[in-house]
Amino acid sequence: MAVRRLHEEQPESFAFTPDNENWAKEQIGKYPEGRQASAVIPLLWRAQEQHEGWLPEPAIRAVAEMLDMPYIRVLEVATFYTMFQLQPVGKKAHIQVCGTTPCMLRGANDLKDVCRRKIAENQFELSEDGNFSWEEMECLGACVNAPMLQIFKDTYEDLTPEKLEQLIDDIAAGKAVTPGPQNGRHFSVAEGGLTSLVDFDGGPEGGVPQPQVINGATQTINSVAGFALNGGEGTAAKTKTSSKKPAAKKAPAKTPAKKADSLAAPKSAAAPQATDDGPAKKPKMLKKARASGADDLKLIKGIGKVLEDKLHGLGVFHFDQIAAWTDEEVNWVNDHLSFKGRIQREEWIPQAKALAEETKA
Ligand code: FES
Repeated sequence: MAVRRLHEEQPESFAFTPDNENWAKEQIGKYPEGRQASAVIPLLWRAQEQHEGWLPEPAIRAVAEMLDMPYIRVLEVATFYTMFQLQPVGKKAHIQVCGTTPCMLRGANDLKDVCRRKIAENQFELSEDGNFSWEEMECLGACVNAPMLQIFKDTYEDLTPEKLEQLIDDIAAGKAVTPGPQNGRHFSVAEGGLTSLVDFDGGPEGGVPQPQVINGATQTINSVAGFALNGGEGTAAKTKTSSKKPAAKKAPAKTPAKKADSLAAPKSAAAPQATDDGPAKKPKMLKKARASGADDLKLIKGIGKVLEDKLHGLGVFHFDQIAAWTDEEVNWVNDHLSFKGRIQREEWIPQAKALAEETKA
């Protein structure tokens, strides 16, 4: 970080506007008696906003007086945090380009070149019209959407040199600009869509992360959090309510479940295919449940309502169907439900065998 000193040219005085003074008093009033110093950062920030984006020395004194703090304590805060600008900056935008490793690897140097070309050769140098300036920053905490930069309170992410040029042109022209990712990405959601927690079953909507409105902004909560927050149906809840379910470690029944007469091999089942898990073959499926009705597949640990519906859609309605799956057939189901070894991990087959025996008895 560069040495942060007060600018050599300072205004004679500083005073909050009446509106800002009222606002400052409100902020101070939020803290208990004797703790007014806690308002130092918001007051300094408001002073900076009022003074064309930078904090002059008289403003630091004014804030110290309002908060009854020693001047040196407020000066320490102002010179420590890089959010406070200690010299004049661009009136329309002071562009803080993150140059730390993730952003650098994703093109921050190209963004700095744009700043040099369109604003000024050196950091903190004002553009000819005085409307823009720039500086390089350490990590600004949005590495996931690198490369990024900050302009006053807002961050602009997923940038390219072309997008930055457009951003500068728009700000110069007084057009409204939208902070956040500049490539259409939703917050920091993976660019190509979800890559994890896609098969969580048992959450409020089958575990698929649902956009939720938080503080007025739409955000996506991961399925585990959504499940926990909404008290949805899940493994823990099922443990309490499914007294018929065998213990997780229960030994599999020795006798393989008898295959039902009504199981019919579809024509497409013949040729094994390859999946990430190895050779795969479609298991025998049913067009509908037998006359006795479908088994409650949710009794198998790991299967919730949504997954049960998906299994029905494939033609799986009974414990003995699952119990009879071979390794190749397990691979096929894993593949079709976008699982990765989940059936083996959750021991569906031994559970299904035990349940099939129980149902028969
Ligand atoms: S490295 Fe640029 S935001 Fe973290």
